[in-house]
Amino acid sequence: MALVTSKKMFEMAYKNGYAIGAFNVNNMEIVQAITEACKEENAPVILQVSKGARAYANHTYLVKLVEAAVIECPNIPIVLHLDHGPDFETCKSCIDGGFTSVMIDYSGHSFEENIAETKKVVEYAHDHGVVVEAELGTLAGIEDEVSHAVGSYTRPEEVIEFAERTGCDSLAIAIGTSHGAYKFKPEQCTRNEKGILVPPPLRFDILKAVSEKLPGFPIVLHGSSSVPQEYVKMINENGGKMPDAVGIPEEQLREAAKLSVCKINIDSDLRLALTGTIRKFMFEHPDKFDPREYLKPARANVKEVVRHKLIEVLGCAGKATECME
Ligand code: G3H
Ligand code: 13P
Ligand code: ZN
Repeated sequence: MALVTSKKMFEMAYKNGYAIGAFNVNNMEIVQAITEACKEENAPVILQVSKGARAYANHTYLVKLVEAAVIECPNIPIVLHLDHGPDFETCKSCIDGGFTSVMIDYSGHSFEENIAETKKVVEYAHDHGVVVEAELGTLAGIEDEVSHAVGSYTRPEEVIEFAERTGCDSLAIAIGTSHGAYKFKPEQCTRNEKGILVPPPLRFDILKAVSEKLPGFPIVLHGSSSVPQEYVKMINENGGKMPDAVGIPEEQLREAAKLSVCKINIDSDLRLALTGTIRKFMFEHPDKFDPREYLKPARANVKEVVRHKLIEVLGCAGKATECME
């Protein structure tokens, strides 16, 4: 089937208590790893492309890689989404260039500016059959000018006005997730019996308050990697240095997926699996120089991370057919 929007996926995810995985793609191996896992697990999927990915790999290459995945996986619905679109022009370029979904991230601007830019993107996108994700509240990490102060969480009292005035199709909210592999400072965490950092729990009270204001409306969580310690260890044991890397506990994401969260963004976990595997291979085989030899096991491990997310975290394995438009 051709690329689809996320409309039907979110409708089914909301109704049946699961979330769709939104995985960032930057090259062929990552596209293959994600879509092969989804194909084998019969899962719907959102492939997302950031501004940085377009700068690195080129818009056309990424679109064509995703189109190849659509041909290879005819029985699962696939969305091509712009992640963190910084302005109207970038969103327009992706809408004109074959994307079926875009995010306009004006969360760093004032409430009124966020509404105005989001509305402009929504009008253009809807005229072209494309759906729009917006954001209210600010995450740390790549948006790291803003700290984890209370003020950066989404304010439930603003969401009705924002959704009504913009007409957006889904809303990313800030409830304590954060981008990257260092989501929390050690002083924000406690340590478990193994000495692993345990982050502060997600603000389910905010999620529930938002959903009471917007019943049936799809909510999105960014910054939702769990930073598997297995791969942090692999990186550190093979020449890397990633002290105190910490992510969001998977049980909390599973809980959110059962509520109104219909899309969960995961990128760093795939990067960790890829990098850890390549570091280990390089360390163990200092004489090898054929990229296929180290990219092959790296791709296989990324695929297993995605499979694990589909089954254990998102709950969307086996749901491809009900999500077909
Ligand atoms: O949230 C952002 C994604 O992890 C993409 O990151 O801007 O490095 O491509 P990027
Ligand atoms: P992570 O860095 O937690 O994987 O978040 C990715 C993300 O939110 C992409 O938009
Ligand atoms: Zn994000």
